[in-house]
Amino acid sequence: MKRSDSVFTRCVHSGIEKSEHHGSVSVPVYNSSLFVFEDADEGAAIHNYEKPGYFYSRLGNPTQRALEKSVTELEYTDDAIAFASGMAAISSAVMAHVGSGGHLIALTSMYSTSNSLFNYLADNFGVEVTFVNAEDSANYEAAIKENTKLIWLESPSNPRLNITDLKAVASIARQRNIITAADNTFATPFNQNPCVLGVDMSIHSATKYLGGHSDLSAGVVAGTNESIDRIRHSTNKYLGGNISPQVAWLVIRGIKTLALRMERHNSNAYAAANMLKSHPKVKEVFYPGLETHTNHNIAAEQMRGFGGMVSFDLGGFDQARNFVNRLELISLATSLGGVESIAQHSAAMTHATLSEKERAKAGISEGLIRLSVGIEAGEDIQKDLISALENS
Ligand SMILES: Cc1ncc(COP(=O)(O)O)c(C=O)c1O
Repeated sequence: MKRSDSVFTRCVHSGIEKSEHHGSVSVPVYNSSLFVFEDADEGAAIHNYEKPGYFYSRLGNPTQRALEKSVTELEYTDDAIAFASGMAAISSAVMAHVGSGGHLIALTSMYSTSNSLFNYLADNFGVEVTFVNAEDSANYEAAIKENTKLIWLESPSNPRLNITDLKAVASIARQRNIITAADNTFATPFNQNPCVLGVDMSIHSATKYLGGHSDLSAGVVAGTNESIDRIRHSTNKYLGGNISPQVAWLVIRGIKTLALRMERHNSNAYAAANMLKSHPKVKEVFYPGLETHTNHNIAAEQMRGFGGMVSFDLGGFDQARNFVNRLELISLATSLGGVESIAQHSAAMTHATLSEKERAKAGISEGLIRLSVGIEAGEDIQKDLISALENS
């Protein structure tokens, strides 16, 4: 069936073929870890990927496949592969493309566990890693070496909402046959499609907006046939981070309302960022939709909306600690992307594993608050923010 170009329609219908699964409107959960063959020849053909089909759920399952097809359509890629968590997706994608003796370029200010993974690969697996300030794409170019295999991007970045010019970095990499991967968790396919801008792989922690209800853990890599095949036949098989069919089904259900939720996340976050900007207790607000954001013009060029994540600096560790303790509607928790508003104090929580010096280098000040703006009434979210600011 030819798909509509509207992301609203795609979210509802992507990944589901009416001719499959006996016409069921909701993809069934295939609770089977193995699949029988008609005969030895079919068994050999499916096993050797000469005939489409399933044989063992670590290597594919029809419910998982429906999710993969859905994200493929939303990201406008050739293919996708789903995992049990965002980190399973990230480690499988990275380790399939860069090994011992290879060089990886990533960003200084990024999701802390991806940062730790890259350092772990450097310390234990002979991968050379360079971290750059990603706000200027020339820094990626300057870091390229003979053995550079992979460029890692994250835009908007966690937690500082830094923006990288994805098209520019993808073009620099393509000229040198270097693979690119972008963590698209913060933007979601509703707001941004990195692969349409030339990036090879777009990666999601589906735990966040794709699932959308803070009730599951999952990850997806969407990308070119070459990159997904490489993952499928190496790290997916060896590391075994496959998603369960029940969770794949939950992510598919979440995606059906992704567009509706994102529209609301975008507008609530935009309003909250503007309110925070004018509040006397807030030193600085980081939101790509604000004209004051360093790379607002690039964000406006490559994103359709600016997302539901806002971060802001309250000037010091104690101010941030007191602020999160005064929140009532907004939950103090370290995830993001759910329907409910969530705040966290980065220096004390998600980025506590970095030293103070590393945090300072990444622009993560001691008073930085990361806010995942939910889909509640915008006025209620702002009321809670104002009351916590005024009482802290
Ligand atoms: C930007 C980003 N990427 C990846 C991850 C990792 O995803 P997961 O927790 O699903 O493994 C996170 C988790 O917070 C994240 O914020």
